[in-house]
Formats: sequence, structure tokens, C-alpha cells
Amino acid sequence: TAEQKRSDYDLMLHAARFYQHQLKHHANSKTVIDYIKGRGLSGETAKKFMIGYAPSEWEALCQQLGRNKEQKEQLVELKLASEKSPGRQFDFFRDRLMFPIRDKRGRVIAFGGRVMQADQGPKYLNSPETRIFHKGFELYGLYEAKQAHKKLEHILIVEGYMDVVALAEQGIEYAVAALGTATTAEHMHTLFRTTDKVICCYDGDRAGRDAAWRALENALPYLGDGKSLKFVFLPDGEDPDSLVQKEGKDAFEARLSEADDFTKVLFNKLSQEIDLTQDAGKAKLLSDALPLIEKIPSDFYQENILEHLGRLIGRTREQLNNRVKSPKQQHA
Ligand code: GTP
Ligand code: MN
Ligand code: MN
Ligand code: MN
Ligand code: MN
Repeated sequence: TAEQKRSDYDLMLHAARFYQHQLKHHANSKTVIDYIKGRGLSGETAKKFMIGYAPSEWEALCQQLGRNKEQKEQLVELKLASEKSPGRQFDFFRDRLMFPIRDKRGRVIAFGGRVMQADQGPKYLNSPETRIFHKGFELYGLYEAKQAHKKLEHILIVEGYMDVVALAEQGIEYAVAALGTATTAEHMHTLFRTTDKVICCYDGDRAGRDAAWRALENALPYLGDGKSLKFVFLPDGEDPDSLVQKEGKDAFEARLSEADDFTKVLFNKLSQEIDLTQDAGKAKLLSDALPLIEKIPSDFYQENILEHLGRLIGRTREQLNNRVKSPKQQHA
């Protein structure tokens, strides 16, 4: 009897369940569960996010889910297994805490895996792109956030898996993470189709501040009337995970309610290394700002920003209006 071909999504779900099972039953189980608890996570949250454990053995998943040649090939194609030589497969994720990444319909499409001790290779290993996983488009936690809220009033975008999960643990169930990449234009498109208010809250370090700026640039084309984009900058060395555990839900949400509007962040960044008392500085600010302003579809935001820009460089809004082209496409 011919076995029915297993779908890619079915295989990924089975892998997630396998890792979940290992979390409870593997010989290393106690160490892994201690690690999870040590990071402040409850069993309930671990379950909600289907967190699991990829065993330390080289062929645990392959043996369980790669029973014949086709199945083994499928494991390799979905990057759950690697192939040293033809016919010799081994598990891609070993001895890692596993975070299944689900698409917005809830289908498991990839994994992130974290080491639990230092010196065990890269801290996070993410599934490479496959035919069902396109990194620049997916947001970790979006499915879970949608499950938690009928309508998402706002979405918080953070850097890491642990940030999303720790926030959920503390009752902030509307955070998502881009997957170790910058927040792309596609991510912003998805976010602003799902909600009106996006708040960016990256790590309090150099990389986090750079990420914020890239996110801002990528969001501009989606800032139609009624959309809002804000930024929270965390104290040095903190990330949402560390901070929400330290200060709790209410204090963390107070930071969110005091977030900076994107216009403020935009001008702060653009005028950072510019001397606005000099004409050359004013001209530079104008030429840097205009191409960004032109990307914004909302007339309201454009007007606001032009007004602000005019004050900084000593031009009336009418003078500036002549220099701005309307955005070619209205996305939002
Ligand atoms: P914890 O250290 O567990 O709290 O994770 P974190 O999210 O705070 O890590 P960090 O701020 O260093 O990185 C943010 C995100 O970048 C992670 O969630 C990963 O998606 C990604 N990342 C971090 N380290 C690595 C790495 O070594 N390799 C890859 N590919 N991605 C990484
Ligand atoms: Mn699109
Ligand atoms: Mn960081
Ligand atoms: Mn971090
Ligand atoms: Mn962290």
C-alpha cells in the first residue's frame, strides 16, 4: 500500500511535536526545563509557543521522521536535516531550545534554536529559507498575538524570540519579532495591514538603534492617514525581555505609552551630525529629508513634517511644498 505523501506543513508540525515531546522525556529534560524556568517562563507560555528541545543526538529527528528515502529527502529540503554525503542525513538542530515559527495561519514553517550553554556554536540557529519559509516576510509571534486578541489595537515589534515570549509571559501578548533580520518593508506592510499602531522597541544597544532607523525608513510608504509609528528606546544593555522581567507589565507599558513619534525620531537622526546654524547644514537637512518625506502617503504627516522642517531651516511651508513630490503609490 502506497503511503500518502506527507505535506511540508504536516512534517513541520510533526517536528515541532517531536521537539515538544523531547522537552519532557529526553534524558536532558531537567536541564532544559531548568533553563526555561531560569528565564522566567511558565509551562503555560512554553506550551502556547510550542517551545521544545532538539536532542543532542545526531540522528534523533531523522530516525523518527525520516523512515524512507522520500521522507529523508523532505527533511533535507525543509532544512530539518543536513546531508554529509548522499543518503547520510543528520539533524540540523541539536541540543537546542526550539522555537517553532508559525505563519499567520498557524502553520509551522521554520524554527529558531537557542544554545543553553556558552561555547556551543552560534547563540541562535535559524532555519535557512525553504520553499515554505521566506524570512523577510514572516514575523515570529504574529499568529500567537492574533490568537490572543480579536482585534490588535497595536503591535509591538522587538528583536528576539525571547523578547516575544517573555513579554507574553508578563501579559503583553501583542509583540512580534523579525527573525534575526532587519525589519523589512514587507514586514511593515504586513504589520500595517494588521493594525493601525506599530511600536518599535529594539535592544538598548548600537544594533538596536540602527535597527530602529532601518525600520523607520521601511515603514514610511505604509504611513497613511490613521496609521501611527512609534519608537521606544531602552536603557543601555536592556532588551524587552530583561526589562519586563525587572520592572513588570505596568511599568513596561508606561514606556510604550510614552513612545516617541516617528517624526521626532526622523529629525533627531537626520540632524545628528548637522550644524543647523549654518546654511550648509540646513541645505543638507533639506536634501536628506525630502526623499524620505516623499515616501509618506499621508498628507497629514507630510504637512506636519514639512512644517517642522521649515522651522528648522527657516523656510515657509509654501516654499517647501513646491519641492515635494507626491508619493507615487498609496500603499496604506
Ligand atoms: P537571549 O540572549 O536569549 O535573550 O536572546 P536575544 O533575543 O536577546 O538575543 P540578541 O539580542 O543577541 O539577538 C536578537 C535576535 O537576533 C535573536 O532573537 C535571533 O533571532 C538573532 N540572533 C542573535 N544571535 C544570533 C546568532 O548567533 N545567529 C543568528 N543567525 N541569529 C542570531
Ligand atoms: Mn506586499
Ligand atoms: Mn542586542
Ligand atoms: Mn536582545
Ligand atoms: Mn535577550
